[in-house]
Amino acid sequence: MSLERFALAPDLSICRLLNGMWQVSGGHGRIDRTKALESMAAHVADGFTTWDLADHYGPAEDFVGEYRRRYSSEHGDAALASLQFFTKWVPRPGPMTGPVASAAVATSQRRMAATTLDLLQFHWWDYADRRYFDALAHLAELRDAGAIRHLALTNFDTERLAGILDRGIGIVSNQVQFSLIDRRPEVRMAPWCREHGVHLLAYGAVCGGLLSERYLGHPEPRGSALDTVSLQKYKRMVDAWGGWGLFQELLTVLSSIAARHGVSIPTVSVRWVLDRPGVAGVILGRRLGLSDHRAENAKLFAVRLAAEDLARIDEVASKSHDLFRSIGDCGDEHR
Ligand SMILES: NC(=O)c1ccc[n+]([C@@H]2O[C@H](COP(=O)([O-])OP(=O)(O)OC[C@H]3O[C@@H](n4cnc5c(N)ncnc54)[C@H](OP(=O)(O)O)[C@@H]3O)[C@@H](O)[C@H]2O)c1
Repeated sequence: MSLERFALAPDLSICRLLNGMWQVSGGHGRIDRTKALESMAAHVADGFTTWDLADHYGPAEDFVGEYRRRYSSEHGDAALASLQFFTKWVPRPGPMTGPVASAAVATSQRRMAATTLDLLQFHWWDYADRRYFDALAHLAELRDAGAIRHLALTNFDTERLAGILDRGIGIVSNQVQFSLIDRRPEVRMAPWCREHGVHLLAYGAVCGGLLSERYLGHPEPRGSALDTVSLQKYKRMVDAWGGWGLFQELLTVLSSIAARHGVSIPTVSVRWVLDRPGVAGVILGRRLGLSDHRAENAKLFAVRLAAEDLARIDEVASKSHDLFRSIGDCGDEHR
């Protein structure tokens, strides 16, 4: 089975299913370094070559550094160049000077054992603090100097993304929450991105695992039953969307669509997001060494959802609350 790839930029091809590393940062079970690195190797061997991480995801950048060093010594630097590692810079509010930006990039380069960062995704907490323009201008200089291959954003809304492009700062992608539960990107972000050539990388596509057979017919999970921070976060999103009763209706419909295609609920859920206009890739959280969904994930690339499947999904979604109205545009849930 060949995995779908996408040209995020002319010199940057990605696997459309990216491996997310937030799950190694704590709150998702104890991650064993040796097993995690073995699992990274197994994912890459199966063609899942693209990784999403961040400066604040615990040891994620160090795991990548270790993995890259090993891979280079076993397979050579040319082979290493066919893998992609996308990190983020999530600075605390403060002066965004050239030295501050350079130091952040240098730290990621050192930890990830990379002279050039494939993609640096910038996050900013407070739009009222307009120093994000300073930070991005310095990052663009670092990109032009070769420290970063491409510059990207995470959790920016459409208005600010447009403002950044208006200043002539080239951005290849914006990473946002996008799922059958959270369809806010369809309202403004995705149409704007398509018009302006910015790509979306989507996370939350299986809601931490809530969008799976495990929760079909399951009583509403609360408290310690939600045993990862990802499940806790997306359960709050399900509550805002329409609650557990409506979520069960959605799972039931997804289960029958999945059965028709001979796949699972997560596969249908991810396929739906991947097929949204403007979406370049979906990032799935990997609990490296604790769980492994590679075999099921590969089936994703053979599934084509029919118009009838989409209509059945939309019928349930039409009963949900309008999250764009209650939360706002992409990223507003973080602010
Ligand atoms: N930019 C941001 O603000 C932001 C925010 C959140 C996430 N992210 C990125 O997106 C990634 C995704 O994380 P997420 O929290 O949104 O989680 P997610 O991808 O929605 O959920 C991942 C979990 O889904 C479960 N799962 C069930 N069936 C699966 C299947 N067939 N394939 C894969 N997983 C399946 C797994 O749980 P089990 O391990 O229990 O099987 C897995 O740990 C993160 O690692 C991070 O890179 C970015």
